Amino acid sequence: MRIRTFDDYQQAYQQSVEDPEAFWAGVAQEFQWRKPWTKTLQWNFTEPNIKWFVGGKLNITENCLDRHLAERGDQPAIIWEPNDPHEAGVTLTYRMLHDQVCRMANVLKRNGVGKGDRVCVYMPMVPELAIAVLACARIGAIHSVVFGGFSAQSIADRINDAQCRLVITADGAYRGNKEIPLKSVVDDALIGCPSVEKVIVMTRTRTPVAMLKGRDVWMEQELKQVTADCPAEEMDAEDVLFILYTSGSTGKPKGVVHTCGGYMVYAAYTFENVFQYEPGQVHFCTADIGWITGHSYIVYGPLACGATSLLFEGVPTYPDAGRFWDIVDKHQVNILYTAPTAIRSLMGFGLDKVENHDLSSLKVLGSVGEPINAEAWHWYDDHIGKNRCPIVDTWWQTETGGMLISPIAGVTKTKPTYATLPLPGVQPMLVDENGKEIEGNGVSGNLCMKFPWPGILRTTWGDHERCRQTYFSTYPGLYFTGDGCLRDEDGYYRITGRVDDVLNVSGHRIGTAEVENAINMHTGVVESAVVGYPHDIKGQGIYAYVIADAMPADHDADLTKRDILATVSRVIGPIAKPDKIQFVSGLPKTRSGKIMRRILRKIAEGDTSNLGDTTTLLDPAVVDEIKAGAV
Ligand code: WT7
Repeated sequence: MRIRTFDDYQQAYQQSVEDPEAFWAGVAQEFQWRKPWTKTLQWNFTEPNIKWFVGGKLNITENCLDRHLAERGDQPAIIWEPNDPHEAGVTLTYRMLHDQVCRMANVLKRNGVGKGDRVCVYMPMVPELAIAVLACARIGAIHSVVFGGFSAQSIADRINDAQCRLVITADGAYRGNKEIPLKSVVDDALIGCPSVEKVIVMTRTRTPVAMLKGRDVWMEQELKQVTADCPAEEMDAEDVLFILYTSGSTGKPKGVVHTCGGYMVYAAYTFENVFQYEPGQVHFCTADIGWITGHSYIVYGPLACGATSLLFEGVPTYPDAGRFWDIVDKHQVNILYTAPTAIRSLMGFGLDKVENHDLSSLKVLGSVGEPINAEAWHWYDDHIGKNRCPIVDTWWQTETGGMLISPIAGVTKTKPTYATLPLPGVQPMLVDENGKEIEGNGVSGNLCMKFPWPGILRTTWGDHERCRQTYFSTYPGLYFTGDGCLRDEDGYYRITGRVDDVLNVSGHRIGTAEVENAINMHTGVVESAVVGYPHDIKGQGIYAYVIADAMPADHDADLTKRDILATVSRVIGPIAKPDKIQFVSGLPKTRSGKIMRRILRKIAEGDTSNLGDTTTLLDPAVVDEIKAGAV
């Protein structure tokens, strides 16, 4: 199933379209199943109802761990690089990881967790995070990892939505020169979470924490009470593996649901092929396991392929902006997978941060999370890959489970800023506003998929109708990605960005409505409108137009802005803080009360020359006021 040449790719692609079931059955049979499936695919995009490998039984951890013990038990599975480069790291071989996952799984069982129970994981980027995730999978519990940058309120919303029974956390986290009091944030969250019975606390920063009798237990003490004997739970291919919350254009974040069989097959297949992984290579994905990139390409994809996955606790700029290159050099990294925002930020520190490191181990460079601009692409290519490493610009989403449109390293001819071609099994389609297919090349439109792949989301937790509405109703019969896309004369795809009210700030996905709701929770705020604007490093910045109770005078305005930022931090988390706030006396609304975001976006971009038709506005004068006060 391994693609080596462009011919292989074309053949695989053709088969995957002509006979998708045979194609994916071929891929899936390379894994270890307790019981084979009876039907490879059952689907419709109307309900939607999507099932892969129907009736198949497996446990993903047997594929990620047990399966490798005989052949590569002593090979590193996880290399952990701590935040502080002077602290000793950890290398876990497959045998050690297997042992630790089994122990942690027994700790979960001891604390009342069983198959189907939901477990919230709020952890630093330490090996125990990967171990916790795999321990859940081992016993059939459903993990919901929450990124360490989210607020107590956000954790509580996610815990309550999924009715989690247990939380796994740490006393604190190190991130650069900051220390984040994770347990204390969890304590705040749990005031409003009656479903949570137990909290397992790992020690990392050894910051003082409250430990409540009957609820909170220390991970280290629990681990002493168990053995490493934990047979894997037999799971149906379509049993839920995890929930991961992600933002959309309306309402609160949705719990995207992925299942055991299809997700495993898809994460592993794309990992191995896109990066052209070779046994023994070291793969360094810089994402956090709190996002889908970390789930698929730090934990499940690499481990399912028996790879060595590097897990980094810190940030790219600590102790200085050479840290990534330092890690590449130290661990002889072969594949580096990072985000354009990181590349742009490191570019700003100049080449002397790069030049004193040996980067000759690098073979493949990956990019993910947002469109990569030409300048960043070339810098990555010239100065990191030294023009000898293919760059794979991988386009995908939380909902897709794995990459959908991407070059295959060294196989697909790359083109800066292009995600290039669909991977085998992926059938993209561009449509216009009316849902009419836009055929041919040299065109652009809204990006949809007309056929399922094994990693597609199955539902949104507890609300299937919302899943249907969000992804399958805009263009009936199609999965709608929310992205705009161009297909050039060569048939190459270039993702141009979201066409809905979803922002991409430093690769973090944030809904404008979510930020507005948070701003509106501030006492002095009447109404707000949030839009994105181009930002040199973050990709997009957040611009908030705010109507206050009383228009604050200069000094008060600054104080109020700070309070608004604190409010957003408290409600969502620091990642959602607006970069710019402008107080306005009104918002440009149509007679039917709809905010004309198009105008607000233009002003935020600093382009006020051509605001288009404003005659349908209730009060066109408000536009001049906003233009004059733009920040
Ligand atoms: C959105 C999904 C994919 C894992 C990380 C983000 C944007 C993602 C690319 C890319 C252009 C990209 C899209 C997509 N996006 N990768 N290579 N080129 N845009 O997952 O948080 O679910 O966000 O990120 O707009 O819809 P996510």
